[in-house]
Amino acid sequence: MHKNPSKKYRPFPPVSLPDRQWPNRVLTHAPRWCSVDLRDGNQALAVPMNVSQKLELFQTLVKTGFKEIEIGFPSASNTEFAFNRRLIEENRTPDDVWLQVLVQAREDLIDRTVESLIGAKKAIIHLYNSTSPAQRRVVFGKSEQEIVEVAVRGAQWIKDRLPRLKGTEVMLQYSPESFSATEVEFAREISEAVMKVWQPTPDWKMILNLPDTVEVAMPNVYADQIEWICRNIKNRDSLIVSVHTHNDRSTGVAATELGLLAGAERVEGTLFGNGERTGNLDIVTVALNLYQHGIDPKLDFTDLNSIIDVYERCTGMTVPARQPYAGELVFTAFSGSHQDAIRKGLNEWKENGRTHWDVPYLTIDPTDIGREYREVIRVNSQSGKGGVAYLLESQFGIELPKDMQREFGPIANDEVDKLGREVTAAELKQMFWNEYIERTSPWQLKKFETESKNGIVKCRAKLLCDGKVVELAGQGNGPLAALVHGFSKADGPSFEITAYSEHALSSGEEAAAIAYIQIKRSDGKTRWGAGVDTNIELASVRAVLSALNRL
Ligand code: KIV
Ligand code: ZN
Repeated sequence: MHKNPSKKYRPFPPVSLPDRQWPNRVLTHAPRWCSVDLRDGNQALAVPMNVSQKLELFQTLVKTGFKEIEIGFPSASNTEFAFNRRLIEENRTPDDVWLQVLVQAREDLIDRTVESLIGAKKAIIHLYNSTSPAQRRVVFGKSEQEIVEVAVRGAQWIKDRLPRLKGTEVMLQYSPESFSATEVEFAREISEAVMKVWQPTPDWKMILNLPDTVEVAMPNVYADQIEWICRNIKNRDSLIVSVHTHNDRSTGVAATELGLLAGAERVEGTLFGNGERTGNLDIVTVALNLYQHGIDPKLDFTDLNSIIDVYERCTGMTVPARQPYAGELVFTAFSGSHQDAIRKGLNEWKENGRTHWDVPYLTIDPTDIGREYREVIRVNSQSGKGGVAYLLESQFGIELPKDMQREFGPIANDEVDKLGREVTAAELKQMFWNEYIERTSPWQLKKFETESKNGIVKCRAKLLCDGKVVELAGQGNGPLAALVHGFSKADGPSFEITAYSEHALSSGEEAAAIAYIQIKRSDGKTRWGAGVDTNIELASVRAVLSALNRL
């Protein structure tokens, strides 16, 4: 890297807009959405989608609620053309969905594009040419005037061919590609030149798409550019202003949101931000950001996991674990304090029925998009006792008493620390089983019987202590008191029971009861034990032996 980067790089010049309005606005409703997954997303794949993959993704986009879908570049290849034809000829497009196609300003390509749309119910023909100084200079070697002529010619060729699309409702779209790197005055000039050809009206609007083809500045600059165009272009009321952001500076979402504040009414993007380089705008994020503000995004992500499945299968891409809303880890807390706060927040939500979601660390309720609470907390060495207890309870119905959580939490953390990785709920349960339930040394239960008369319970127990048989007999006001008495009579360990609780285990191979017992030795030392049995009395005897085995 350069010591003085200003010798090689310079900031993008700001737009002069001292009375900019967008910072004082708020978003109140969803924009029109256009998915460009099948075009911009597809052209960025190492292996572009085949027709059946495109069909599957198209169906998912329709199901999600997209009403405008850029299906491809039909003049670019036979696969693209064939895909268009299948959508139209096999009646795969609902009547309210616009099929959008992209084309450059070349007559032969426009011919083929129009041909690909014959028979469509609704079509958007999207013309583009690149307008930034670098593109004009390096790629085309053309003056501003010549670049305007390219756009105007393309617009005219499209207009001339519209009669071929009888029976098709057509909308026209123009993109000054690389808009965000173009002088706003020139972007306006070329857009107005195209408008002059197409003659849009408030009743037959055209889409003016203003792409942030490559992010070259902060998102506030893009917002200024959008507001500048919205305020300075002729016949604004005959336009649907659209934003199309990429993500080179990782601010594609911010640029779109600020662009909407600045006056845009339509958004182009892809699922999970697939697209050239760092990607297109992630539409899922913008839509769910609106949802988080209580605005109906008009896209349905109730079953986000199956959308992820289709996306990954069709594109061969993977959704990163930290992807907003969709990533595997976004509803997962690793730190103990986060886990604790989430647990309290979820409990408050469930029990107190708050009207508005306000759970710490969770921006939305994961269940709204088909994610599950059990994904919220997983355990690694940074997790607190709360996370451990939550997992055991939510996954296996094991409700550890509070005080026992304090004992088992650090034991589990030590184990996880040794493993040096996150553990699953099943592994955590096994740690609990090893520590409490499966302890048989020195004490092991062989037999335990009770009889009760006039409120007095007598017990007889046959135990093994380090493999040797020990018989006990005792009495008390309950089976456990009788057992404690039996131990003391036989000169066994002397202790008292200081806490007890039990509950049925909801399901699983145990289909049984679990008892938790805390014992206290005469020297004041306490230990928890736990026992599982189909008979609750035996579960509690096992819990006593488990506690003794842990002393
Ligand atoms: O990023 C871009 O500028 C595009 C245009 C073709 C709209 O994808
Ligand atoms: Zn793009």
